Amino acid sequence: MRFHLSIFAAVVFCTGGSSGFTFAPAPTANLGIGTRSRSSSSKALFMSADTPTVTLGIFGGGTVGGGIVEILSKKQSYFQQLTGKNIVVKKICVRDASKPRDFALPEGCTIVTSYDDILNDDTIDYAVEVMGGTTDAKDVVMSALQKGKSVVTANKALIAKDLPEIEKLLSSLDSSGTQFRYEAAVCGGIPVIRSMQSDFVGDTIQQVSGIINGCTNFMLTAMDRDKKSYEDALAQASELGYAEADPTLDVGGFDARSKLKILMRLAYGMDVDEDEISCRGITELTKIDFEYAKTLGGTIKLLGVASKNDKGSVSAFISPCYVTNDDPLSSVNGATNAIEIVSDNLVSSIYIGQGAGRYPTANSCINDIVALAKGDTTPLPFNPKSETKFANNYESVFFLRLNYRDQVGITRQVGEVCENHGVSIHSILQNPIAKSQESAFAIVTEKVEYASILKVLADIEALDWCKGKPFYMPVLREDWQS
Ligand SMILES: NC(=O)c1ccc[n+]([C@@H]2O[C@H](COP(=O)([O-])OP(=O)(O)OC[C@H]3O[C@@H](n4cnc5c(N)ncnc54)[C@H](OP(=O)(O)O)[C@@H]3O)[C@@H](O)[C@H]2O)c1
Repeated sequence: MRFHLSIFAAVVFCTGGSSGFTFAPAPTANLGIGTRSRSSSSKALFMSADTPTVTLGIFGGGTVGGGIVEILSKKQSYFQQLTGKNIVVKKICVRDASKPRDFALPEGCTIVTSYDDILNDDTIDYAVEVMGGTTDAKDVVMSALQKGKSVVTANKALIAKDLPEIEKLLSSLDSSGTQFRYEAAVCGGIPVIRSMQSDFVGDTIQQVSGIINGCTNFMLTAMDRDKKSYEDALAQASELGYAEADPTLDVGGFDARSKLKILMRLAYGMDVDEDEISCRGITELTKIDFEYAKTLGGTIKLLGVASKNDKGSVSAFISPCYVTNDDPLSSVNGATNAIEIVSDNLVSSIYIGQGAGRYPTANSCINDIVALAKGDTTPLPFNPKSETKFANNYESVFFLRLNYRDQVGITRQVGEVCENHGVSIHSILQNPIAKSQESAFAIVTEKVEYASILKVLADIEALDWCKGKPFYMPVLREDWQS
């Protein structure tokens, strides 16, 4: 079987808005600050005896925790000018107190291993949770809030999992002035949380999309640009510290999904169950997919996308997506993250920067700590809730890749299956076959419903010439040009 680009090039490319996915329906806290102002009797701890002090207990002295301590110490006098307070780290809680640390312990600061050493210390104003995990970290965060300690955290997994509980607790603390801040939890150093909390109040967000996992973006760049294998790309990402301790969270798309859920809460005031968000990572991608993407004039990025449809409901997914070379996201390479917000007033705004790493992530935590110390009582942690519904379906142009055993009638059968499910084919592509066992062809559809694509793929997979599971990905913009 041999056929060429655009055999079925039947219909024009979609044009129109910049937002490529059209989703179709189918299937507070009071934030005053409770800083304890005190004259220091412990001169070892406090820079100036007359300056009020805010005291920190940090859970975690690893990558992020170490960065926070370093920045606080480097900019101590500047922060004092900025906030009118000395910001002092009193205790750092770690798992293994004997482990050497790669940062200098501040004067008067002690390393502890019991959470209670911080939680039960009434002189500690803020709890900074940078130890990770969702069990002990949850206990620590909830308990600190209950004890009136404002919390700063970088823990997206915890927020995504327990957002309603955290929100409920925060609203019960209404008048206590205890705050919850989490700028570092989504896209590390990019100030996207604060921006979504404050800068869209008069706007309406239509779509949030972007590269929100640095590890997989690093891997996809290595696979596409440097022609590395999946395994080599993952090994290099791990070596450089871009991968989570369990890389399945990255390559399976789960880390990105946690972040997308938080962004959806901020963009649409909705709390969606994480498991309802369709989540596909990069494990099914092959080099053939990159070849086809190149033939079409683009590349592949793992994106998180949440978008409003014209009925007002919102749908979302994590998936590899085809992105054209002239798309701003296509040139976001390596471990860099990028988020595009499409909204009525601002039209499109893009935030690009370091999504992980010691200093970028610690920088966001520092911004939260300094905001607390300044007595900054805005913005709300999660924006007001809304009745926006989640729709588990969307419309997009799709790219499909099918591995096949050669036989007569393949294109006819594919055409029939697509027709049965109302899917129009825009074009069929076949690159020259290097090895017969790698023979694969690709289809680009017109804009169709995701639910229809799933039916097409199930039917095609059952055909006897189809080898393995067909691969599919949405095309980011409906006005794409190959
Ligand atoms: N690293 C990044 O680039 C980045 C970016 C964005 C968000 N985050 C988030 O930031 C958090 C921390 O990440 P990280 O990279 O700094 O992790 P990390 O380097 O592994 O450090 C974790 C720290 O927490 C301590 N710890 C872990 N479990 C503990 C427990 N049960 N009891 C007491 N201490 C415990 C560890 O103690 P020991 O040192 O004694 O083992 C270590 O000091 C995570 O939620 C992560 O998702 C990280």
